[in-house]
Amino acid sequence: MTTTDSPARIRVLPPEVAARIAAGEVIERPASVVKELVENALDAGAGRVEVAVEGGGAERIRVRDDGRGIAPGQLADAFERHATSKLRSAEELFAVRTLGFRGEALAAIAAAADVTCTTRVAGESAAAVARFAGGRPLPPGSAAGAPGTTFEVRALFGALPARRRFLRSARAEARAVTQVVADYALARPEVAFRLESEGRVALASPGAGGERAAWAAVYDDGLAAALIDVGHETAGEHGTVAVRGLVGPPERHRGNRTALHLVVNGRAVSDRQLAFAVERAYEGLLPAGRHPVGLVRVEVDPAAVDVNVHPAKAEVRFREPRAVASAVTAAVRGALAGADAPAFAPPVLAPAARGVPHAASAARAVLAGARPASPLAGPSRWGPAAAGAEPVLPLAERLPALRPLGQFDEAFLVAEAPDGLYLVDQHAAHERVRYEEVRARQARGEVASQPLLEAALASLGAAQAALAAEEAEALAALGFVLEPTDAAALIVRAVPAQLAGRDPALALRDLLDRMEADDRLSGPERAAASLACRSAVRAGDQLAGEQQRELLRQLEACEHPQTCPHGRPTLLRLGSEQVRRSFGRR
Ligand SMILES: Nc1ncnc2c1ncn2[C@@H]1O[C@H](COP(=O)(O)OP(=O)(O)O)[C@@H](O)[C@H]1O
Ligand SMILES: [Mg+2]
Repeated sequence: MTTTDSPARIRVLPPEVAARIAAGEVIERPASVVKELVENALDAGAGRVEVAVEGGGAERIRVRDDGRGIAPGQLADAFERHATSKLRSAEELFAVRTLGFRGEALAAIAAAADVTCTTRVAGESAAAVARFAGGRPLPPGSAAGAPGTTFEVRALFGALPARRRFLRSARAEARAVTQVVADYALARPEVAFRLESEGRVALASPGAGGERAAWAAVYDDGLAAALIDVGHETAGEHGTVAVRGLVGPPERHRGNRTALHLVVNGRAVSDRQLAFAVERAYEGLLPAGRHPVGLVRVEVDPAAVDVNVHPAKAEVRFREPRAVASAVTAAVRGALAGADAPAFAPPVLAPAARGVPHAASAARAVLAGARPASPLAGPSRWGPAAAGAEPVLPLAERLPALRPLGQFDEAFLVAEAPDGLYLVDQHAAHERVRYEEVRARQARGEVASQPLLEAALASLGAAQAALAAEEAEALAALGFVLEPTDAAALIVRAVPAQLAGRDPALALRDLLDRMEADDRLSGPERAAASLACRSAVRAGDQLAGEQQRELLRQLEACEHPQTCPHGRPTLLRLGSEQVRRSFGRR
């Protein structure tokens, strides 16, 4: 047996290597460093937290707080793995009251970047300084400095080029950092936060004035004033569930969930179950596919929630998830019911899209022979055998000439062609048409822009402002002429021709929402797809005969008529053969 054939020898990894592997679980990107350092500052009782990033945080992150500080004799220990002042026993892990408890963050950050920590406990004459470079400690020192702690983190993943390559553009990373700071500015309105990104103030919350003032700092005054107060307590088996916060009136819905901030016992979390619980309260009040905005803060007995389910502590697990979810739904529903009724009947679109990613997929399931709900049409006729004989898809690349027969459910066009019956999703089809138009024009170097007679000011949230900066080129290529301001707002001087006539600020915000929610495309494709989506006819729009014909004609002319820009189907075909066979005709 040669040495290459023999089983690889098992070795215990050297500590530096083990530390780096572990670091990867906690520190994924600059925003994770910011999150850990901000959480430490809050655990240290800070009343003010200042964050500054350069190069999206990959070059430099500075987090400064006015909290308790670390005693000089303990500073080196703070950077050891599993070193924490927050837990003493295993039992305490089941009732964590602080944001940190794993004792991993500082060790992970010191393993992944060059770090300087300057910290002074009130009463000490000077600040203690700890430094790490290349994963190793440098000799400790002391310096002047105000009470509190400052971390400087440079060259994140500098010694780990493979990880550095995984980072996105500086602007994308800066946006993720903004989201973290925004989350905590809202979760802790009593703390003043300030975020500087590439030398500009991206966010500054007052640390006073409560949730509404914090919301105004992260988003805008107008929306902050429109939010509805939530306050509700439910007694459960494991203690009281208190739900507090602010939620948007239904008509302030958005295209994604980034403006729905969830907080559990003071910790900003991303928890789908909680988000669904909030959305359930809006059932019937929002158009399909739209999401509410708000800040929902849940307080439960720390023993009733497990925060140790995720290395980055982004998720939590409740002991009684259903009780918490229904308390949240009840709290939000109560708040919405108590608020003034909206001036107009909110548009309610087909509920078919709920829980189904695309209405067409439901239709396809039926056409493809999924068990029908009606007992009359038994599986013998519509069963897999009948449908399987002639697949509904794939279709020929190019479409045959389609003749419209009418509209179904205000969302689909019914059309006939020589090879069968077609059901066309009007929104998806129009998206495809618009997308190809925009891309074709861009390929020719043209921009279809509509200058505004009066420039409009679009106040964006900090996160949206960062996205707009990141995608400045792609937005310009669509026809936007935008000018930055000092605040999280842009001056809109021209809009894409497709959006002419709409409220320019709203149109821009809506487009950015759509872009933010799109996790499949990027760059100019994403921008074009978002414009296509926002300018296309929607489900619920009635189309006259002439409009139906025009849409089908445009779809026939497309290069890829069968899918929307995101790859969802635009149409379904029921072959003539299949229709005949299904009726027992030959
Ligand atoms: N900004 C800070 N102010 C005061 N103490 C801090 C600060 N950051 C870290 N520490 C101390 O360092 C310890 C280790 O921090 P960390 O590695 O993040 O672990 P954890 O937060 O899970 O305890 C903390 O328990 C705390 O005692
Ligand atoms: Mg920590």
